[in-house]
This record gives sequence, structure tokens and C-alpha cells, in this order.
Amino acid sequence: MSVEKQKIIGILTSGGDCPGLNAVLRGVVCAATNLGWKVIGFLDGYEGLLGKDTHMDLTLQNTEGVMQRGGTILGTTNRGHFISKTGQGGKARISSEVMEKTRATLARLNIDGLITIGGDGSLATSNQLYESGIKVIGVPKTIDNDLEATAMTFGFDSAVACVADALDRLHTTAKAHKRVMIIEVMGRHAGWIALYGGLAGGSDVILIPEIPFSFDKLTAAVRKRFHEGYPSTLIVVAEGATSRGGREQYRAAAAGEYRLGGVGDTVARELDHRLNKPKLVKEIRTCVLGHLQRGGDPTTLDRILGTRFGVKAVDLIAEEKFGQMVSYQNYQILSVPIASAVRRLKTVPPESQMVETCRAVGISFGD
Ligand code: F6P
Repeated sequence: MSVEKQKIIGILTSGGDCPGLNAVLRGVVCAATNLGWKVIGFLDGYEGLLGKDTHMDLTLQNTEGVMQRGGTILGTTNRGHFISKTGQGGKARISSEVMEKTRATLARLNIDGLITIGGDGSLATSNQLYESGIKVIGVPKTIDNDLEATAMTFGFDSAVACVADALDRLHTTAKAHKRVMIIEVMGRHAGWIALYGGLAGGSDVILIPEIPFSFDKLTAAVRKRFHEGYPSTLIVVAEGATSRGGREQYRAAAAGEYRLGGVGDTVARELDHRLNKPKLVKEIRTCVLGHLQRGGDPTTLDRILGTRFGVKAVDLIAEEKFGQMVSYQNYQILSVPIASAVRRLKTVPPESQMVETCRAVGISFGD
């Protein structure tokens, strides 16, 4: 009778962190341990594949209680040697030297399959690894929810909850001061966080990249509210939103890089110019929610989704379905080729039921 060899699987978390990563790690460890397998976690994203001591054993003991915690116990990065996408639509090849080192590490540790948890850019890297013969399974994560081929990514629900909570707080102060409050939220080139967070938090206006807005229409929406007896207005603006004919706004960041940001201040300035001559609204303030949306503990939905993704990733390794990504569809966790998830970004369809629902409850898109 042949005894099946104990499998050893590798796992890493890559790209911007998001709540739910630890739930996936815990799910993988539990499911793998049940099968008698061993799990090795690589530290700081794909970079962990390049070092000698940049990995750790993941066990039931050291993953106990992590499902409920935000961040990632393995660390992550959205920089380094494995960049596959640059800016919007730009592609980069992983160097052959880095590929060789990766292969050598996986061979040295006898890894039978590598689970990579990442967003659009990190999964494009996974696809390159798979195309070069490495046995990879992808798990989709991102607060932005902008990945094709899965109805939802974990992390999104937690980010939306953060936006809704922030709006609840802004409501009271906006009302007390009769102010217009603008809140700039994350999401890169997609408006999912703004759309869902804006609806859940009772926003009056939502500006998203998929529906370019007009400053005149936006001004008219605030003015109309004022004349109807609502002197305060809440505006959610996605960091990638643009006015008609305008361009996305970037701020200088560390090491000469540019990150999306600044549109909230622009909207405030333009609104002030249009609304307050003669003076109508007392004051306009901007709040940039930033990394608060990525931090903190996962919502119950993200804990469950993350755990289910982790368990499914182990199933896929058992079935040797490499090159696949776990995917959430119609309440089921299925799998799709990684390649199908990274072809293009999933953005908000402007005619979608969600947008129509927002409009039906009186939310303006400034269009
Ligand atoms: O992709 C997730 C995300 O949080 C985006 O919404 C945001 O634009 C970006 O990452 C911020 O990245 P960083 O943490 O590197 O500034």
C-alpha cells in the first residue's frame, strides 16, 4: 500500500493589507493540518521568497485567534522585485534572476503548492509565476473590490463599514455647524467603496470615477438641499473621481512616487467658489479617510469570506488545480483561472441597480 507523502504548502500575503488576510491564513492552516500537511508562510509578500530565513512555519498554535485581527501576521508589501503591473494598465516582467531564486527557494523547502493572497497587481505576479511553471493558487483580496471574476473580495466589507462609521460621525458635526462635509475615500480607479459606503452612511452626494461629475450639477445639488431646508450636506468622493473632461489627481508621496489623492480638496475649493458668492453655505470642510479604511479588525462577513477562501485554496491544491484563483459567486466559493481575474479592473457599471438605488433615495452623482 502506498503511503501518500505529507504535502508542504507555502503561503504569502502581498500588496496593500486588508482586514481578513489573517482569516485566510487561519483557514488554510486548519484545512491543511486536517489533511496532515505542513504550512510555511513567507514574510513580507513575494519578497519572502528571495531570502534564506524569510519564512516561518504556520501552525494551529501560532494562528490561534488571528482570524479576528486586521493586518497580516506574515507582513506584506506593494513594492519590491515582483511588480507585474505599473500605474493604470502598465505591465512589467519579473526578471529571470528573481524567477530562478523563487524556484530555488520553493525547491529547497520542498513546497508542493504556493498560495498567494493578493489584489490585481499581486495576482498578475501569481499568473507570471504560474506561466513559468510554478504551482500557484490565487486568493483575491482588496478593499477596492476591483477584481474581475469574483463577486466580492474580502476586505471590501470592512472598508465600507469604516466609511459608513465615518459618515455617521460626520453627520452630527456637519448638522451642528450647518457645513458641507466632503469625505475622500480609497478605491483607486473604481468607485465601489464610495458607492457602498456612501449609501450605508446616508451620504447626499457620491462622486465616483465611473460617473464623471459636473461642478455645476454638484453645486446645484447642494444649493437645492439648502433651499429645501437642509443646510448641511455630506459628499463622498472616491480618490479616483474626476470632473467631466478632468483627470485623476495625484499627490507626491515617498521616494518620488505619486499616489491618488487630493480630489476632495479640489471639490471643496470649487464648491466654495460657486456656492459662496454670494455666501450661501457657511463652511466647507474636507476629511481624507486614508488608511483607516485598511486598518482595524475584519467585519464578520470578511472573517467568513476569508476563512472560506482559505479552505477552498487548500482544496484546489489537493485537486492540483494550479493556476486557479478562488472566487465568490452566488454565495458559493468556486474557482476561475487567475488570468481571467487580472485582465482588466472591475469597475462600477454606471447603469447598475446599485447606482439606480442610490438615485432613487435622492443621492446625487453630480451628473
Ligand atoms: O489598493 C488598496 C489601496 O488601499 C487603494 O485603495 C489605495 O489607493 C492604495 O491602496 C494606497 O496604497 P499605499 O498604502 O501604498 O499608499
